Amino acid sequence: MRRLKPWVFAACLIPLGLLLWRGFTGGLTANPIEYITHRTGDWTLRFLLIALAITPLRRMTGWSGLAQFRRMLGLFAFFYATLHFSTYLVLDFFFAFDLILDDIVERRYVTAGFTGFVLLIPLALTSSQRMIRRLGGERWRRLHRLVYAAATAGVVHYLWLVKLDIRPPMVYAAILAVLLGVRLWFRFARARPGVTSGVDSSGGVPVDADPVR
Ligand code: HEM
Repeated sequence: MRRLKPWVFAACLIPLGLLLWRGFTGGLTANPIEYITHRTGDWTLRFLLIALAITPLRRMTGWSGLAQFRRMLGLFAFFYATLHFSTYLVLDFFFAFDLILDDIVERRYVTAGFTGFVLLIPLALTSSQRMIRRLGGERWRRLHRLVYAAATAGVVHYLWLVKLDIRPPMVYAAILAVLLGVRLWFRFARARPGVTSGVDSSGGVPVDADPVR
């Protein structure tokens, strides 16, 4: 499983590689800022949902090694969110903070996107094993449930920004709804007697630091 990690890491960089490739070959369309904003927004949401799908997949397949990828995928979601926000901050508004503030307050889809981004910051900052130990398994897990709120804000952001065809954001909304449903189902199943706590014997650190438990 460890040998797979560099490959997954490299695969996560493909969207960035494609953007750079298009940048160098003049393929960023007639509106490069819009193109970069859209692609980085798409990949933020995709990585968030892929990271959220890891636990259900692990449970369904029994492939426990999958859990190792959750942190990496979550951090890639934050990486693409940072690129997405930086495009807006630098290329769209060139650090005009007063205008940015007005935009965040006035356009509801920007409010939702900004909320999603802000929610991801504490998650990225506390993603290391050291922070899991410092916060303690249960507190860490509670904090990391914010990822569902961030993904919801991201989907709402997308729903509110599309003007005509709402099908693409609805597909993301449906996937998120299924993932949330599965999470509730797991919680319900865990509440039943005879299910183990998921805490290892080496000091209360979660076996795989799983916010869904
Ligand atoms: C969790 C955080 C976020 C997610 C998941 C997200 C996701 C997305 C998605 C999926 C799109 C549409 C892509 C497409 O049409 O193919 C988009 C567009 C956009 N996002 Fe975000 N976004 C996030 C945060 C932000 C933030 C913080 C800002 C700026 C403050 C922002 C500004 C924009 C803008 C300006 C567009 C283009 C709107 C248009 O074309 O009219 N987003 N975002």
